[in-house]
Amino acid sequence: MQSTRNKLIEILSETSRKNDYISGQLLSEKLGISRSAIWKHMNELKKDGYIIEGVSRKGYKIISFPNKLSENTIKWGLETNWLGHHIIHKESVLSTQKLAHIAALEGAEHGTIVIADEQTSGKGRADRSFHSKKNEGIWMSLILRPDILPYEAPQITLLTATILAQVLDEYKDITPQIKWPNDILINGKKVAGILTEMQAEQDKVLYIVIGIGLNVNQSLKSFPEELQSKVTSLSIETGTILNMTDLIQGIIKSFEEKFDLYLEQGFPHIKTTWEKYGFKINELLEITTSQETWQGKFLGIAEDGALLAERNQGEIERVYSAEISWF
Ligand code: BTN
Repeated sequence: MQSTRNKLIEILSETSRKNDYISGQLLSEKLGISRSAIWKHMNELKKDGYIIEGVSRKGYKIISFPNKLSENTIKWGLETNWLGHHIIHKESVLSTQKLAHIAALEGAEHGTIVIADEQTSGKGRADRSFHSKKNEGIWMSLILRPDILPYEAPQITLLTATILAQVLDEYKDITPQIKWPNDILINGKKVAGILTEMQAEQDKVLYIVIGIGLNVNQSLKSFPEELQSKVTSLSIETGTILNMTDLIQGIIKSFEEKFDLYLEQGFPHIKTTWEKYGFKINELLEITTSQETWQGKFLGIAEDGALLAERNQGEIERVYSAEISWF
């Protein structure tokens, strides 16, 4: 059940988005509370950092939201067609990924976003944990129900990596790279990770959950010591504190646009963009699978998301799952 405060914010957001005011009288009718209760709520919102303009005979309008994540602050000015129309925001969760699976199984619509300020048990690939401290990064999972075949799902992981790389590329002085399969690096250090999980029947994707973890406002000290030589954040790289809501909206908008394009045009142009950002393409790498370790030249990616490497001068192999290291 939505609280009166949230309903009030929602109504105010809707009218303010259209640059309109809404009167105290109309608000009190819509919410079924007195004018003085509306006035008290407004004062509470202002205390929480909302800038609200009150004009006599016109009413109220939100000028800006606090720099704090909530369903409303993320939706404010988002204007997407399908991504983020339903947002589940929590202050603290074990993992947005787990919550997204629960929501998807309960029927959450295509484009639902689960996002949290903090994850206490963030999940990385290969059962690793993912460091996700409060208000320092973007920890979000997207629920998608695309009409694609299960074997095509890895393409969406690669697509997500290219989207993140392109969004980060917009920032001055940042040159992102994608490390196969899906870590985003800046200056060789990991700034983001992607975890794709899927529920499918033999020839039908039921849903896909794309988990995105992006380090935004951490200082180096904020990471555990053993990670400090391997990770970075946007703040470390740019020397500024970033506005989390702007960044989230940028990712969501770009994701929607590029995802629609992918469904229309298929994978080839994504492969090209992935390879533009690919980390250490044409260099020597060491590949450790469950069966063996071998060295080869990294050539790029295949359309099914596999890593392509040249082994023994001329033999090209596809690698689907492996630990990769470079020299
Ligand atoms: C990796 O680098 O191995 C993947 C990391 C994925 C982390 C994100 S944060 C949001 C979502 N929830 C999780 O528990 N994991 C993903």
